[in-house]
Amino acid sequence: MVVTNRFVKIYDLSQDNISPMHYITLPDDTIVDATLFVGSKGRVFLMVLSELGCLYRLELSTKGNVGAQPLNESIQMDGGNKHAKGSSLYFSSTYNLGTVVIICNRRRLETNSPFLSQKAWEGFSKGLIEEVQRWGSMKQTGVSLRYMMEFGSRPTTRNLLISAQFLHKELPIRIARRAIELEALPYGLSHKPAVVKVRDWYLDSFRDLRSFPDIKDKSDELEFTQMIKMIKVRHNNVVPMMALGVQQLKKDLDTKIDYKEDLDEIQQFLDRFYMSRIGIRMLIGQHVALHDPNPLPDCIGYIHTKMSPVEVARNASEDARSICLREYCSAPDVNIYGDPNFTFPYVPTHLHLMVFELVKNSLRAVQEKFMDSDKVAPPIRIIVADGLEDVTIKVSDEGGGIPRSGLPKIFTYLYSTAKNPLDEHSGIDLGTVTTMAGYGYGLPISRLYARYFGGDLQIISMEGYGTDAYLHLSRLGDSQEPLP
Ligand SMILES: Nc1ncnc2c1ncn2[C@@H]1O[C@H](COP(=O)(O)OP(=O)(O)O)[C@@H](O)[C@H]1O
Ligand SMILES: [Mg+2]
Repeated sequence: MVVTNRFVKIYDLSQDNISPMHYITLPDDTIVDATLFVGSKGRVFLMVLSELGCLYRLELSTKGNVGAQPLNESIQMDGGNKHAKGSSLYFSSTYNLGTVVIICNRRRLETNSPFLSQKAWEGFSKGLIEEVQRWGSMKQTGVSLRYMMEFGSRPTTRNLLISAQFLHKELPIRIARRAIELEALPYGLSHKPAVVKVRDWYLDSFRDLRSFPDIKDKSDELEFTQMIKMIKVRHNNVVPMMALGVQQLKKDLDTKIDYKEDLDEIQQFLDRFYMSRIGIRMLIGQHVALHDPNPLPDCIGYIHTKMSPVEVARNASEDARSICLREYCSAPDVNIYGDPNFTFPYVPTHLHLMVFELVKNSLRAVQEKFMDSDKVAPPIRIIVADGLEDVTIKVSDEGGGIPRSGLPKIFTYLYSTAKNPLDEHSGIDLGTVTTMAGYGYGLPISRLYARYFGGDLQIISMEGYGTDAYLHLSRLGDSQEPLP
């Protein structure tokens, strides 16, 4: 048996070692481990553990199969799916036929023991928890920018109804996945008060969505739209609240040794978590915005069909400069090069956020380097290039660059060379402060926004001179949402 991330191949070596008897794939997930076991009457089963923590089962025929066979029968135990992210899997027939042991980095989970401890989910009914588990194991459906644009260009009553019905089914799936993950984080992160609060927001929203009856007509649709608008507001402060939880954990971990590995696991979780959040907020925001009776010209919900990247970059730079002025009492110039009349369809709020973060980083670097020097601070240069596939925005500064040893860390959520504002302003209302730097979230979050519509963000540094950030935005808009 050969197991890789993408397939399991099973050979009968007495026959040949080239063509597998069974070739099994997992269409929407990657494979972590697989094992074979023999059940009653000599029936042979393959069991697969996936990256998302689902267990799959397939009975293998003795004759073998031709071609790839997708796995789709997941194992449900105790009435729900087991979401047990582990690193290897074995089946123990000596214990009990129903026992599958999943070896995790630091935990050992057995599927016939309750996966969700009652203590952790205290305050929530058993029925709700089971429902979260059931919905969390359903398949998510991605949407592309192009689809959102085409669909939203005709916001007829019928289309709004279809959109609401889609969200009524899709949002609980996405939200349930996050709630389950929030409950199973390593190192007690799940129990940090800030994280418990975030988890409760997710559970409340899940409950609101599930208790909303089927959407049959226009008035149901309007009521549903009001409700999801409220859900979006409820989740406004998720990012700083999670940052607070992670910060609390970081303080605990500082004293422990296994630092690197801890960060990786949490880093990957946060990437999935925030990516999913971007998608959820985009879908809700888009649906709500389609109800606007007086939409701005060329706008379809959040999407501007003729967005000028130069203009958005100019606004974002001015916003970043005003924060720089507030914190340092001066701010380097920002020069923008590119055709202001060039436009393409994109979401201006997303682009604004990304350029704002990049320019803030550059301003800070230049400001700190030239603050005490008699030389004039060199301007930050933004170049906008329109290619066939991508629109690329380069933000260049002469702020001294980033040492090569620091580069692997800049996209992590726990790394910042600035003082943490959560330490400085403890007790402040989380969502209301915008600071120059310090959360360490600017780059990783910007990269997620870029990737959400098929783009990317790269940072190239010349230590001793400066940094170039390349923000690639996909022009085609037909890549599907990444669905963690
Ligand atoms: N243009 C730049 N010049 C120098 N260092 C940078 C630049 N951009 C990012 N960095 C480094 O990367 C770190 C992480 O950046 P970011 O994710 O935006 O978080 P924050 O700005 O909150 O620290 C910064 O603290 C800084 O050390
Ligand atoms: Mg920053």
